[in-house]
Amino acid sequence: MRRVYLDNNATTPVLPEVFEAMGPYFAEHFGNASSIHHHGQETRSAVERARESVAALLGCRSSEIVFTSGGTEADNLAISGVVRAGDHVITSTIEHHAVLNSCKHLEAMGCEVTYVRVDGRGLVDPDEIRHALRPQTRLITIMMANNETGVLQPVEEIGKIAAEADVYFHADAVQAAGKAAIDVNRLGCDLLSLSGHKMHAPQGVGALYVRKGTVLEAMLYGGSHERSRRAGTENVPGIIGLGKAAQLAIEAMQRGDLAKMGAMRDHIEQKILAEVESSGVNGVGAPRVPNTTNIHFDYIEGEALVIALDLKGLAVSTGAACSSGAIEPSHVLTAMGLPSDTARASLRFSLGKQNTPEEIQFALDLVPRTVARLRELSPVYNRTAVSS
Ligand SMILES: Cc1ncc(COP(=O)(O)O)c(C=O)c1O
Repeated sequence: MRRVYLDNNATTPVLPEVFEAMGPYFAEHFGNASSIHHHGQETRSAVERARESVAALLGCRSSEIVFTSGGTEADNLAISGVVRAGDHVITSTIEHHAVLNSCKHLEAMGCEVTYVRVDGRGLVDPDEIRHALRPQTRLITIMMANNETGVLQPVEEIGKIAAEADVYFHADAVQAAGKAAIDVNRLGCDLLSLSGHKMHAPQGVGALYVRKGTVLEAMLYGGSHERSRRAGTENVPGIIGLGKAAQLAIEAMQRGDLAKMGAMRDHIEQKILAEVESSGVNGVGAPRVPNTTNIHFDYIEGEALVIALDLKGLAVSTGAACSSGAIEPSHVLTAMGLPSDTARASLRFSLGKQNTPEEIQFALDLVPRTVARLRELSPVYNRTAVSS
């Protein structure tokens, strides 16, 4: 059966070039990067080259990059690394659970957290952040791109507010890396999270940018790896993969690939909205990364539609992969003011570098038919159709 994967915000396939770059670092160049002999030194220099590639993607110094086990660890390290008991933190209601649950933990430890709201397009208002500032505010943590809607937050403005107030600014850029230009100096952030598996590197590797001079308390106790900011023997093949993926992301952006991806995404939206009545794009009108669209198909359950599409070979998602199966509607969509029925009827389509126009056509042939079939079975839809 043909299978088309449009769930790249959940995870992306490792690109062949990335896989090839990693290959020698399993059995051939297997040294521990901390060893002083040949094997260790060869691995060390490869890790440092990867660090330079990641730094080039973000416009920072390689010494400001700390490799982690992924986006969740990078978010946790950023937050717990700078916040102390009694501090105040500002975040938003639409963050990933890696940030939201880190903030919940801070609250349990005696910190106060302000969760700023978003508007109907899913955008944080920088003025709300400014108003939330207090003398005890230590950190502002706002994501660059939302994982469910792709909406890009006004991070540059937020960075200015943080700088004026002399408060740390952390940006979760896990869903922005490779899909939008990132320059940590333009953003004015002190901390920024990345995850390998959202940008065609493997799962289980990520990075945290830590601006020089930031006093960061380590989360793990152990050796003095990563300049004492993250103890533990490095995941060398993963790091090599992340470095290669960063290099490919830079090249792709220079080639103008993002505009092509955006055109494919726009095509999906136009076709679906034209062919499926009572559907609409969540987050429309806000700046978005070019690979993501989140569409509501009223009168049906998103979960049922995901399963029906999967049975025909199309993989999409109802929102954050980690909350799939939960009965609760997406916290992101409800924070945007969507009624819970509409939030439950929403699907995320997210593109990756591997997707082709033929695959998009496959999805466009399948989705309207499947929605129509599910609606035929829906008592709510039939009642509404009859009464109107
Ligand atoms: C915005 C965002 N932040 C953080 C994470 C966590 O990253 P990881 O899966 O590498 O732990 C994700 C993963 O979905 C994400 O989308």
